[in-house]
Amino acid sequence: MDKKKIIIDCDPGIDDSLAIMLALKSDELDVKGLTIVSGNVHASKGAENALRILKEIGRLDIPVYIGDGSPLERELITAEDTHGEDGLGETFLPRVEGVNYKEGAVDFILKSLREEDELSIIAIGPLTNIAKALETDKETMRKLKELVVMGGAFKSFGNCSQVAEFNFWVDPHAAEKVFNELHRNITMVGLDVTREIVLTPNYIEMLKQFKHPLADLIVKITKFYVDFHWAQERTLGCVINDPLAIAYFIDSSICSGEEYYVDIVTEGKAIGMSLVDEGDFYRKEANCLVLTEVNSKAFMEMFLTRLIPEHKKDILNVLNNPKYSYQNQKFDK
Ligand code: RIB
Ligand code: CA
Repeated sequence: MDKKKIIIDCDPGIDDSLAIMLALKSDELDVKGLTIVSGNVHASKGAENALRILKEIGRLDIPVYIGDGSPLERELITAEDTHGEDGLGETFLPRVEGVNYKEGAVDFILKSLREEDELSIIAIGPLTNIAKALETDKETMRKLKELVVMGGAFKSFGNCSQVAEFNFWVDPHAAEKVFNELHRNITMVGLDVTREIVLTPNYIEMLKQFKHPLADLIVKITKFYVDFHWAQERTLGCVINDPLAIAYFIDSSICSGEEYYVDIVTEGKAIGMSLVDEGDFYRKEANCLVLTEVNSKAFMEMFLTRLIPEHKKDILNVLNNPKYSYQNQKFDK
């Protein structure tokens, strides 16, 4: 089976790191590179973190390219309160020596699109790099096979305001440009589905019992994030948004949704809000598949068994034991 070629545009970031791990543990994917955008942390810190994660999983062969550090128009607002001062849950992993990230995320995206057919982008940070690539060479960007975006919210409340999700809120002008000018198939993996993906204390305890290096890393980098979720919204565990975008790209049956025209608010109290035109008020062609349903159990099975295949049996036992796991009842037929 031909591998699906992707670039992951990200702002690592704790859940971005989990997404990178899942992508690189999935045989269906050919990850051409990581492009780094400012979001959870400034792109310079994100690029160092990308190298740290690649080193932890023995994949420093994957190239890392840094984008410009600032959103198109807004001042950069980062999220160290959520991801820790270092952006990796204050694990302060040692800086990777001997391997550097490169400049030119936008050039790498465009060069890859010129050289590769069937290339897709999984964008799990603010859309600044994607928008800048579109500004630079729209024709080449329209060669993109698929753009899967972790961002936005349809009927779910926001996480930066009542209505705005972080990636679109950090750079709403980039999101507006991408959704209105790319004219390629975009899938919006928004908070409506990612909020169902919670790494609960049960799963965290199971990971601890495995005494496995990657399981230990997941526990270590998510501890800060778990504490934030309890303090911020009384969630027990942590919402791991970004890996769902990877999992959906691998197996689209994990989620379902509807095609709508989506625009993004770029000013005022609702800045960053994704306006999903369910009522067809704009009278515009749909530009996006908005995901609204997710089989969270199927996601968790893919995520955990691919990262820790040695413990697949234990993972499935826990996932299928109603005592320990949550799952969308309607999917659990
Ligand atoms: O709103 C959640 C998104 O914002 C995730 O991608 C998280 O990593 C942050 O970038
Ligand atoms: Ca992210």
